[in-house]
Amino acid sequence: MQLKQMYRQWWKEGVVYQIYPRSFQDSNGDGVGDLQGIIKRLDYIASLGVDIVWLNPIYKSPNNDNGYDISDYRDIMDEFGTMADFEELLAGFHARGIKVVMDLVVNHSSSEHEWFKLACSSRDNPYRDYYHWWPAEKGTPPERWSFFDEEGSAWAYHQPTDAYYLHYFDKTQPDLNWENPKVREEIFDMMHFWFKKGIDGFRMDVITFISKHDDYPVFEGVHGDAMIDVYAQGPRLHQYLHEMNREVLQHYDIMTVAEGPGTNLDNIHDLVDEDRQELNMNYHFEHVELGVDQRKIVNADFQNLVKYKEIMSAWATTFDEKGWGTQWHTNHDFPRQVTWFGDDSPAHRVQSSKLLSTFLLTMRGTPYYYMGDEIGMTNAKFDSIDDYNDLMTINWYNLTKNEGGDAEMLLESHKLSGRDNARTPIQWDDSANAGFTTGKPWLKITGNYPEINVAAQEDDPDSPLNYFRQLTRLRKENLTLVYGAYELLLPDDEHIYAYTRKLDDEVILVLLNYSGSQQHCPLEPALIGDNVMINNYASLQSDDSGYTLEPWQAVVIRIA
Ligand code: GLC
Ligand code: CA
Repeated sequence: MQLKQMYRQWWKEGVVYQIYPRSFQDSNGDGVGDLQGIIKRLDYIASLGVDIVWLNPIYKSPNNDNGYDISDYRDIMDEFGTMADFEELLAGFHARGIKVVMDLVVNHSSSEHEWFKLACSSRDNPYRDYYHWWPAEKGTPPERWSFFDEEGSAWAYHQPTDAYYLHYFDKTQPDLNWENPKVREEIFDMMHFWFKKGIDGFRMDVITFISKHDDYPVFEGVHGDAMIDVYAQGPRLHQYLHEMNREVLQHYDIMTVAEGPGTNLDNIHDLVDEDRQELNMNYHFEHVELGVDQRKIVNADFQNLVKYKEIMSAWATTFDEKGWGTQWHTNHDFPRQVTWFGDDSPAHRVQSSKLLSTFLLTMRGTPYYYMGDEIGMTNAKFDSIDDYNDLMTINWYNLTKNEGGDAEMLLESHKLSGRDNARTPIQWDDSANAGFTTGKPWLKITGNYPEINVAAQEDDPDSPLNYFRQLTRLRKENLTLVYGAYELLLPDDEHIYAYTRKLDDEVILVLLNYSGSQQHCPLEPALIGDNVMINNYASLQSDDSGYTLEPWQAVVIRIA
């Protein structure tokens, strides 16, 4: 690949850092992270060398799904602060050269939104058509499953108007009716409102679900994939996104990224190719779905590296010519990266979390890095259902009980897969409540904070934190790591993930040992070099036959 042929963009060259505001820093002792808390930590965020911050929803919300249930799209959640705090925060980021991306949650609103209240007031209220209804006289609605519902159905009966409304997520998250042009207009207006304030983009929550099938086709298959595929293939998805681009996005220098359940290699180019004029990037779920069925099983081993490499390679190369990808291991909906893809035992936690960071920052595609991973935070692994806050875990626990299933088993599996594992507060230091709050934290702090915390890692040059800072610098200084062609080496090796990145005359080799034992990495002599750019060990062993990697060793070598 040639740099001069690349379509250069700041959102391709930047590293995204995701902040879950509820758990970042509390500033007023109520136990809940807030905007003033983030303001206090601006210098820390800048010190990481990240370029873009994505904030999970901070809008007015009754908080049933931690802000993914919005009751006013143009105001700030009381617990988080005020619009003045937001403006101060935005200015603070911009002053440090950091862009700010907000969450756009428009597949559904909260049931507390004014629109929904009016829609419920009578069948002929003008807001009725802002949502999807099934009048009871038509009989039972066609089967639709909900992701969160305690009883499983995505239809909730509304007694006063004798009709059912659709909610793919919780009952308190009714789906907005995008077929109604007024709804689209409202949403586009609201997007202009935030862009005019100066935000730099949107991460679009379950955006692939916005277009509904008028005829509600019957699913083939079971809860899970079949449902997601049908939900993600609404007939007018691309029409709406193109319209959004024309009406809003193309008027600003901003970035967009879809949360894309149901996206795959066959349909992704329709969403992100430049000539489609829809969105810039998407994140798929193929790699995180590997090996874990969140609801049913415990599978702590990430042991299928060959398949994993195949998935990651296919997604990295599909954007060689057109479109652009993302790289991520986790976010507020998934386990901590080190617990899931690495090894969080004392023997390997530090090296495996450095390895995972190395992967994200040397792959082709914009890295989305989740707060706390820079210090190698682990899953919380709560023992009791009472420790959980997340409605998904709680509702699934109740659903499992309702169905006569094994609720204890579900609890055990959520030590790995539960969403609250990644939502626990940031571990700033070893003082009470890890320096997150002076009050009672809204969610328990993970027990290992006296050992794993920011303060302890600041002064240690070998800490995951300082290693991450080196990585962001490395990516910034080497456009080959951004735009360079990706090529997988040793596809069948079950322990080593090796690849090259090539741009113009430069060749960079990345070697990652995804195992807790020493591994030999056979490579041709042309790929054996000693110009090490970063290494999570003090040395690197090589001879004519290749390299020998230590447990979880990650090393990046300039070959040419
Ligand atoms: C997305 C969010 C998740 C939320 C859901 C419903 O998947 O990331 O946290 O619960 O959408 O809005
Ligand atoms: Ca607070």
